[in-house]
Amino acid sequence: MRERVVLKWGGGLITEKSTMKTVRQDVLRDLAEQLEQCLLSGVDVVLVHGAGSFGHLKAKQYRLAEGRITGSAPMGPLTQDEAVEEVRADMLELNAHVMQALTERDISAVSLPPHTWATNTGPAFEGDLAMFSQAPSGIVVVTHGDVVACHDKREFGILSGDDLVLRLSKELPDVTRLVFAMGGVEGVLESMPIDDQPGVLIEALTKNAMFDDEHMSEMDVTGGIGLKVQRGFAALESGVEVLLVSGEEPQRVADACLGNPVRGTRLVA
Ligand code: IPE
Repeated sequence: MRERVVLKWGGGLITEKSTMKTVRQDVLRDLAEQLEQCLLSGVDVVLVHGAGSFGHLKAKQYRLAEGRITGSAPMGPLTQDEAVEEVRADMLELNAHVMQALTERDISAVSLPPHTWATNTGPAFEGDLAMFSQAPSGIVVVTHGDVVACHDKREFGILSGDDLVLRLSKELPDVTRLVFAMGGVEGVLESMPIDDQPGVLIEALTKNAMFDDEHMSEMDVTGGIGLKVQRGFAALESGVEVLLVSGEEPQRVADACLGNPVRGTRLVA
C-alpha cells in the first residue's frame, strides 16, 4: 500500500493575494513539478488548494462567511446570491489553473469542488469523503476552499481548505503526513518580520507556544495561519505528521511530503 500525503497549497501562495484573480503561474508550475516527484517516489497525494484573490476579496465584500444577511445596505452591485455564484465560479476558474498545471506534468487528477458534495462549514462539515480514497493509486484527487450550502439560517458559508485537510488527514486510510505549503513565510514565525529581517522561524511548534498569528482580516474571510496551526494540531492528535513549509523555496514541499529533512515548522505533541 502506497503512503498518502494530504497537501494544501495556500491561496496566498498560488495567487497574488491582494490583486483580484491573479494566478502565480510560475509558482504553480514549480509546485506541480514537486508534486510529480512525490508520485514518482511512490507517495500518493490528495491536494487541497486555497482561494487567495479568487475567493477572499469578493467573499469579504459580500460578507459570505456570515451567511445570509437581511436588511443591510447594499454591499455592492451584486446581491449576496449573485456573489455566492460568482465566488463559486471564480474558484472553479482557479481550480482549472491548478488542474492545467498538473496536466502539463502529465499528472492524472480529478477535481471535486466542495459546493457539489459538501454542506456546512468548520471541521464538522458534512460530505462523503470516501470518494477521495476511491481513486486509483497515482491519481491526484483535488479539492479547494469554497462557498457551500448550510443547513441552518445562514443558508451558505465558507468552507476553508484548512477544514478539508483536517478531515481528509483523519479519515482517509494510510495518511502519514499533512503538509501546508505557504507563501511569504518559511513556516510559523515567532514574531513578525521587521523591515528586512525575515522573522524567527519556529522549527518545532508545541500546542501552547506563542507564535505570530498573522491574519490579514481586512481581506481574509477564513483563519490565516492560526487556523492552519489549530487544524494541524487536531490532525497531529490522530497520528498524522504535520509540517508547514514555504512553497516558494525550491524542493521544500517535495521534501516535506516525502519525509526528508526540510526547513519549516513541524508540529510536536
Ligand atoms: C477560502 O478557502 C475559500 C473562499 C474564500 C471561497 P481557504 O481558507 O482554504 O483559502 P486560503 O488558503 O486562505 O486562500
